[in-house]
Amino acid sequence: MQLIDGNKTAQIIKDEIKAEVSAFVQEGKRAPHLVAILVGEDGASQTYVSHKMKACEYVGFRSTNLTFPASTSEEDILVAVHNCNNDPNIDGLIVQLPLPKHVDYMKVIMSILPEKDVDGFHPSNVGKMVMGLPTLLPATPYGVLELLKRYNIPTSGKTCLILGRSLIVGTPMSIMMGRVGVDATPIMAYRHTNQDDMKKFLAMADILIVAIGVPGFIKGEDLKEGVVVIDVGTTRVADASKKTGFSLKGDVDFDSASQKASFITPVPGGVGPMTVTMLLKNTLEAYKNANIF
Ligand code: GUN
Repeated sequence: MQLIDGNKTAQIIKDEIKAEVSAFVQEGKRAPHLVAILVGEDGASQTYVSHKMKACEYVGFRSTNLTFPASTSEEDILVAVHNCNNDPNIDGLIVQLPLPKHVDYMKVIMSILPEKDVDGFHPSNVGKMVMGLPTLLPATPYGVLELLKRYNIPTSGKTCLILGRSLIVGTPMSIMMGRVGVDATPIMAYRHTNQDDMKKFLAMADILIVAIGVPGFIKGEDLKEGVVVIDVGTTRVADASKKTGFSLKGDVDFDSASQKASFITPVPGGVGPMTVTMLLKNTLEAYKNANIF
């Protein structure tokens, strides 16, 4: 079994981005600029955004975190997005999800200029992804693909089971695994999947990508020998031994799954660091596409 080290891979990619940014700046160009809009006080969202801002600093990007109280109106959030859309000194814009219940998050996502949508959530970018056109890809599935690529894990002709159908991970992941160049056979399963079928899919999968948010849901006994396991789950579970009071748990029972897997991602330190890194990669891409040279 080989551990897929997301921290190490993310570091390599961040250093590649940093070198590219440094070359642009040395030519007298401004640095790429990412803006994150954060609404409310959700602890996990605050942590994610702070990781994103720190990563920007590391690679030499400018970053701005616009924070709003949970009571902010949808209209005010739309105005903030609009202002970022119109600011030529901003290349990438993300609105951290989830948004408070009174805000229509789809309306907010659809208000982001597709060229600045470095999360790859806008229907225009999702549509391009489905059609195999160049576009900004959603950071988490993009990070998973990058891990498979950098670990030389073959995907062509492989059966890939994707658990979870979220718009952020499961749905785009299932599309991306079937794209030309990846050439896997994606199967997407979720809470409505027949449980007998689920057992068969798990036993068939050469690559298993799990993004359901149920700690330890997948056990080694259900898996095929030699499976590649990608665990996207990061649930906060109370843990008195930790300073923060919680630890992060994946959707896969690591100990039993690693007995069957040829490759496996740990939680934390697997997919998580890649999400932030691919967001940086998208921001650099949006900067280069922005015709500011
Ligand atoms: N919430 C959970 N994951 C993500 C993500 O990738 N981007 C944004 N904007 N919000 C999230």
